[in-house]
Amino acid sequence: MKILVINGPNLNMLGIREPDHYGKETYADLVAKIQKHCEAAGVEVEVLQSNHEGALVDAIQGAYGNADGIVINPGAYTHTSIAILDAVKAVNIPTVEVHISKVEEREDFRQISYIRLACVKTVTGHGTDGYLEAIDFLTEGK
Ligand code: DQA
Repeated sequence: MKILVINGPNLNMLGIREPDHYGKETYADLVAKIQKHCEAAGVEVEVLQSNHEGALVDAIQGAYGNADGIVINPGAYTHTSIAILDAVKAVNIPTVEVHISKVEEREDFRQISYIRLACVKTVTGHGTDGYLEAIDFLTEGK
């Protein structure tokens, strides 16, 4: 069982950016937390981040034949990117959408999620624990 965790723009700024929304844990803390969780569960994991839409599309395409599940926080591309939606549809790998903040209680422009149309589950507002919930959902019973 292999999970690919993909983070979009500005998530490398965790711990610095808007701590009221995203908390004080750094991106390195997040990666370490995911790796520890997966090691304990016996799940292989790869974690990556990019600020570039095309690089995120490349990462999703690269999962084809290589990953059994995807956990993705596309950051602001959640609300704009049909290309990322299409990539998830193309590879047809079970994918969970994660948002650290409670997007449904924020600005109107954050209420649209293109990627949600291709996801088996969405987790919002659970901080970085949301990534672990998403991983558990994808690996349950596997
Ligand atoms: C986010 C929410 C998005 O609206 C925002 O653009 C982000 C982070 C979250 O994790 O809560 O970059 O995806």
